[in-house]
Amino acid sequence: MTMFDLRGLDAPIVGAPMAGGPSTPALAAAVSGAGGLGFLAGALLGAEKLAADIDTARNLTTGPLGVNLFVPQFDTGKPAEIAEYAEELAELASQFEVELGEPRYTDDDYPAKVEVLLDLKPEVVSFTFGCASADDIARLRAAGITTVATVTTEAETEIAKARGVDAFVAQGPGAGGHRGTFDPLAQPATDSLEALLAAVLERAAVVVAAGGIGTPEEVERVVGLGAVAAQVGTALLLSDEAGTNPVSRAALQDAQFTETAVTKAFSGRYARGLKNRFMENHDQTAPLAYPQIHYLTGPLRRAAVQAGDAHATNHWAGTGFANARPDAAAAIVEALSSRVRR
Ligand SMILES: Cc1cc2nc3c(=O)[nH]c(=O)nc-3n(C[C@H](O)[C@H](O)[C@H](O)COP(=O)(O)O)c2cc1C
Repeated sequence: MTMFDLRGLDAPIVGAPMAGGPSTPALAAAVSGAGGLGFLAGALLGAEKLAADIDTARNLTTGPLGVNLFVPQFDTGKPAEIAEYAEELAELASQFEVELGEPRYTDDDYPAKVEVLLDLKPEVVSFTFGCASADDIARLRAAGITTVATVTTEAETEIAKARGVDAFVAQGPGAGGHRGTFDPLAQPATDSLEALLAAVLERAAVVVAAGGIGTPEEVERVVGLGAVAAQVGTALLLSDEAGTNPVSRAALQDAQFTETAVTKAFSGRYARGLKNRFMENHDQTAPLAYPQIHYLTGPLRRAAVQAGDAHATNHWAGTGFANARPDAAAAIVEALSSRVRR
């Protein structure tokens, strides 16, 4: 059985999995169709929906398909802190005439989704927020699936290596969305992408670089440093095929948003997005409690999108967000890979 090898991509671009809307089967198919590797986001949806998305993507491309899962971590939530944060957000929720969500802890249907992947066999499965167990990695590999761990430190690289993964995504501090930090209580690492990439390359052969990459020159730079590909998320957020909501699409192109920051205010886990009022007002007080805070703020964020209020919802984006352009995803992949196509 030959397993998919990331070193063989015509265009060394991985379309990052982007849970919560931006990832669609059409986006994954377009990235793979352009010679890259497209990903579906398997997090924050049920096993049946994941299976349906894989089928849909398979019907849109004969190219390779990746699927990403969030690995459930231990529950860090303290009910009193969550209740206090809910009280803090109550007034904003009432302004939007919504009830806050139930701050529940879940395993994101992870075990059932692993079974879906074993059954439907996408070419690549990647993990973030931790590494799958050695047992699950072995089962996926035995099914012919290439396994990938997202890592943000040397220590995480060692853990994932010991579990037997085939490849790594070195996720630097400029990355949009949630940091892959294994320990949900740890501050995300701030070492540069270059330093992390060098450290991971000392321990592994197949390493994808991610975080803040948004131009052909930046892709060329990480490939020159030894990465087999660049994983880009933010660069695809404005693509025609992305499911990015209209308020985030507008915010990404709105001159009032000039910078990104890392915050736990929306989900209870550190993530990078456009700096807005919600972040400024609530970052300090938000407890580290994922996914409880994600579910708590969900109705409020959806209402803000409905109301077109860019200051009360999250716009996950990396430090290179100003380079993102609206276009067909294939054209974006072609442009990004123009200096390094194989
Ligand atoms: C909107 C958004 C959602 C994301 N969701 C996920 C996800 O579901 N799983 C994952 O492993 N990474 C996720 N990420 C992080 C990406 O995998 C990747 O590390 C990041 O996009 C790279 O940085 P860039 O956005 O600057 O290109 C997300 C990023 C963004 C921007």
